[in-house]
Amino acid sequence: MSDKLIIFDTTLRDGEQSPGASMTLDEKVRIARALEKMHVDIIEAGFPIASPGDFEAVRAVAENIKDSTVCGLARALDKDIERAGEALKPANSSRIHTFIATSPIHMEMKLRMSPDQVLEQAVKAVKKARQFTDNVEFSPEDAGRSDLDFLCRVLEAVIDAGARTLNIPDTVGYNIPDQFGALIANLRERIPNSDKAIFSVHCHNDLGLATANSLSAVLNGARQVECTINGLGERAGNAALEEIVMTVKTRGDVFPCSIDHIDTTQIMNCSRLVSSITGFAVQPNKAIVGANAFAHESGIHQDGVLKSRETYEIMKAEDVGLNANRMVLGKHSGRNAFKTRLKELGVEFKSEAELNDTFARFKELADKKHEIYDDDLQALVTEASISAENERLHLVALRVCSETGEKPDAEITVDFDGEEATAHAIGSGPVDAAFKAIEKIVNSHTDLQLYSVNNITSGTDSQGEVTVRLEKAGRIVNGQGADTDIVIASAKAYINALNKILAPRDREHPQGDV
Ligand code: KIV
Ligand code: ZN
Repeated sequence: MSDKLIIFDTTLRDGEQSPGASMTLDEKVRIARALEKMHVDIIEAGFPIASPGDFEAVRAVAENIKDSTVCGLARALDKDIERAGEALKPANSSRIHTFIATSPIHMEMKLRMSPDQVLEQAVKAVKKARQFTDNVEFSPEDAGRSDLDFLCRVLEAVIDAGARTLNIPDTVGYNIPDQFGALIANLRERIPNSDKAIFSVHCHNDLGLATANSLSAVLNGARQVECTINGLGERAGNAALEEIVMTVKTRGDVFPCSIDHIDTTQIMNCSRLVSSITGFAVQPNKAIVGANAFAHESGIHQDGVLKSRETYEIMKAEDVGLNANRMVLGKHSGRNAFKTRLKELGVEFKSEAELNDTFARFKELADKKHEIYDDDLQALVTEASISAENERLHLVALRVCSETGEKPDAEITVDFDGEEATAHAIGSGPVDAAFKAIEKIVNSHTDLQLYSVNNITSGTDSQGEVTVRLEKAGRIVNGQGADTDIVIASAKAYINALNKILAPRDREHPQGDV
């Protein structure tokens, strides 16, 4: 058995299935570059059949990523597999990941197929995928609630058909660590040809056990873990990449496998990037990447750490890249320094015009804020890519008046479908007033589900990064905006979310009906 633990990142696929976490093509390529820099082995870039946009995004990742294997998801259907094969054509190294559900409830209620039909379709799908690549992964969806004998039959057959990675998903996060570890051990022992495939796991976090279940599987012979940055993913999310990697690195005395190929100093950069792009803030007490993960508040702890770091710290902050958020640029930095630093952060400009536009935004920001950090740059690029999209609504001007004892009022001018419109509203606060004024023009009738503000860096001159989550007829979108003025940042975020609601919806869910 290999002693290397393969890291399969699915932030761009399962992560994107979080309600509201959809990413643009450029954002996906940026995240993929950051993952490649971390030396992640496999990047699941998306579900190409879902929509033309998903197909293009997988293709763009395949074109841009050279060192990691790029993977596309496909249900066990010819049309899905063909689309994935086509999207992955430009990749240096590609993998097709095909799946079909094997639990009684999924087979009966969702697929309306008998176990024999499921087995036959799984084998057919793997053979079809092998026509495009030798690197085929198969997942029995909802394996965590499947019958062990049936799982063994399916997995033995798909290995014979050419699958080289068997991924065991705990799709609904139902398992507990001992049970899930035993499942992997049993499968490896009972399937006669199990030595011909690598066992992988894909755990959801519904009971908060995704990382524990994945690691229990590793202790029982799994050598690939599917995970996401910040634990993003469907419902309560997936196992967090940073937790898996740092646990195996920190507890090398317990885990019989190595993780040395992963550059852990890229973890913070990836975490901030994903959070800034999706608008999903990281909770302060989140393991590894939370703002408090390396902070010592109590006097006793501080005293101990000053005397000897190991008294209260089991990892070094530098190992996860915590101190890498350097003050890189300022008001007098030139275009070249700006371009070079962004290249180091994995951002490449497609044209001179794009570079010029983002550089102009940087100069505007540097006038308001003297020290520009890496996180400021990432937010700037996210903003530039947001406004570069084909959007119907743009902020032209905003004026708010907020005074003690008076109700705040806002006047907003927007460009909506090429025409300027101005509206005025009173609200319980300046942000509320600004949103009401926008709504008077757009009449979106959306429901505001979340409004959150985070400071990108420290200090009162920091940019505020705002996330707005809107819901309409079951569709949920997130919008982001950043500015040193948080009312303007809020208006930008609201407008960004409205633009997503106004865009047509054209997407299939990977785990929907086949
Ligand atoms: O959770 C799940 O079962 C999945 C599969 C597609 C692997 O995401
Ligand atoms: Zn999943």
